[in-house]
Amino acid sequence: MRFSPAFLDDLRQRLPVSEVVGRSVKLKRQGREYAGLSPFNAEKTPSFFVNDQKGFYHCFSSGKHGDVFKFLMEVEGLPFPEAVERIAEMAGVPMPKDTPEEARRAEARASLLDVMEMAAKFFEAQLQDRVGAAARGYLAGRALNPSAQTTFRMGFASSDRTALKRHLASRGVPVGDMVEAGLMVAGDDIPEPFDRFRDRIIFPIQDRAGKVIAFGGRAMQADAPAKYLNSPETPLFHKGATLYNHHRARVAAQTAGTVVCVEGYVDAIALSAAGIGHVVAPLGTALTPEQVELLWRMASEPILCFDGDKAGRRAGFRAVETALPLLQPGRSLRFAFLPEGQDPDDLVRSEGPGAVEAAFAAAVPLVDMVWAREFDASPTDTPERAAAFERRLREALGSIRDETVRRHYQIAVENRLSGFGRQQPARRGGGAARQSPGGRQQGQRRGGQGRAEAQPLSASATLRQSPMVGAGAGRLATREVALALAMVDHPELLDELAEAFAELEFASRELDRLRRAILDAYAAGASDGPAMRAVLVAGAERAGLERADAARLAGDWWAGPEADIRDASMGWRHACALHYKVRALHTELRTAEQDFGRDFTDGNFRRIVEIQRQLATTEGAEAAIEGFGGASGRTVRPI
Ligand code: UTP
Ligand code: MN
Repeated sequence: MRFSPAFLDDLRQRLPVSEVVGRSVKLKRQGREYAGLSPFNAEKTPSFFVNDQKGFYHCFSSGKHGDVFKFLMEVEGLPFPEAVERIAEMAGVPMPKDTPEEARRAEARASLLDVMEMAAKFFEAQLQDRVGAAARGYLAGRALNPSAQTTFRMGFASSDRTALKRHLASRGVPVGDMVEAGLMVAGDDIPEPFDRFRDRIIFPIQDRAGKVIAFGGRAMQADAPAKYLNSPETPLFHKGATLYNHHRARVAAQTAGTVVCVEGYVDAIALSAAGIGHVVAPLGTALTPEQVELLWRMASEPILCFDGDKAGRRAGFRAVETALPLLQPGRSLRFAFLPEGQDPDDLVRSEGPGAVEAAFAAAVPLVDMVWAREFDASPTDTPERAAAFERRLREALGSIRDETVRRHYQIAVENRLSGFGRQQPARRGGGAARQSPGGRQQGQRRGGQGRAEAQPLSASATLRQSPMVGAGAGRLATREVALALAMVDHPELLDELAEAFAELEFASRELDRLRRAILDAYAAGASDGPAMRAVLVAGAERAGLERADAARLAGDWWAGPEADIRDASMGWRHACALHYKVRALHTELRTAEQDFGRDFTDGNFRRIVEIQRQLATTEGAEAAIEGFGGASGRTVRPI
């Protein structure tokens, strides 16, 4: 029997290698890998390693290397089909049945795949040929260089109406197959089928194994009737069940720990070329449930990336609607919004990959989007309107099919609602934040003498620029900014706190690089604020520093250059403690949720509510402690 690559892949994804290997070899965790004694050679020190992320084992003593199937073949001497059967059994996946009809379809599919591959090669060659000169010029103009052209197998279809048809015919492909593969325009009223793609840049669309199953063609003239023309649905290509760049992103996602879904082909390509490879795109339509499922196979919390304008926000809300019914414990989505009017391709070229990563790091959780969607829908500035808002929220949660997830959404929303009336002045509820993206910052609370719990939390810089303000956005990022900036303007603090600072882990990679640069500069002798800034501004983290400066909240004044060193020191220690507390609470929450998943007792339930309450309190807490601020000549704020 022939197994489809999709079936085998599915099995590989379901069963970690360590689980299969662990049945016969005693394994010990070592960082990202497992180590054990080789099952192939007698040995005393472990030279056998298993890497679940990469999906293989490697034996240094015997040089043997492979995936779960290979392992069973090697160790238990099973033939391949039986190894597959065993793995399927372990994974609890039924074996595919190979009916004659299915066998025939598989064969037809295989031959259509051959046709598509021939077409892809033809387009690639055309691009590099004389006819492709203008197309190469266009690509160069968009900074899609030859190496990206090769990696993404870009091609060119000339304006000759039968160029591809003649080429394929000369290689024995029947016209019927070309039509079935979607390469020809054909129909009852069309006497002679002709090439579908003409005078366009060609982006091959590959399945998750890397096989070409369709093409997207981009017109080069701005006034062309359709900017992109895609293959129609064919036996190989189901637009709604395909993601552009899937097979490359799948690999990159394992290292990155997440996957990002952007809107366009070129966005996916530009980000990959800039080193952000865990990126896919849908094919010109709103994200479908099938595509969301595909994303979840790559990561438990994929990020959906949208333009920060109205249309982008609408697209985000549409995705919320698609995803809510599909949520499962441990599976969610996050939403990143780019500065208005910029797609990822624009942003990465104008600001570099750091800006894009920062936007991804500031992605908001799905629950905030649910909140924001209803909050956006109409004003909440009277009791009746607020009640309508609450009702809409509850109705939205009703579409979550998974009972456990639904319950947790209810808890989260209840918590936030309980603080809603008290800390939403009418100005905010009804007006500024809702209707004017320009007035966003105003809607954002500053100083923070407000209530702690259930506040839509302080937003990070990127988020403050995005229309998502009003949705809670994790205090972590801005606290990290303050923790870093305090060391920029008060490096004297490092005399005592260098070790604590070196041990901090920041969620944002850019900030983390800045953190290391600060430590390096300090080690090199930058002992006051101006000296530190001079070193950083001359170095590689200059942009990171600028972004951090732009992101510092007024409430974190203690981290600024004007703060007295005693306040900076106190503020830093306090923020550091909060930072660790929040991280610990998150870990505790995960455990509590797992316990509750196993055992639905009231006690377990209350524990979750309690941790969430603590989180809300801690997240909103300002670095305000008794007597604090006196040294900088500030009015002392009560807690
Ligand atoms: P955009 O219009 O945002 O274009 O379409 P883009 O990705 O920025 O493309 P460039 O940078 O102008 O080349 C986003 C996606 O929507 C689909 C394509 O998949 C595109 O990548 N699309 C767009 C179509 O299918 N047809 C169209 O006419 C336009
Ligand atoms: Mn674009």
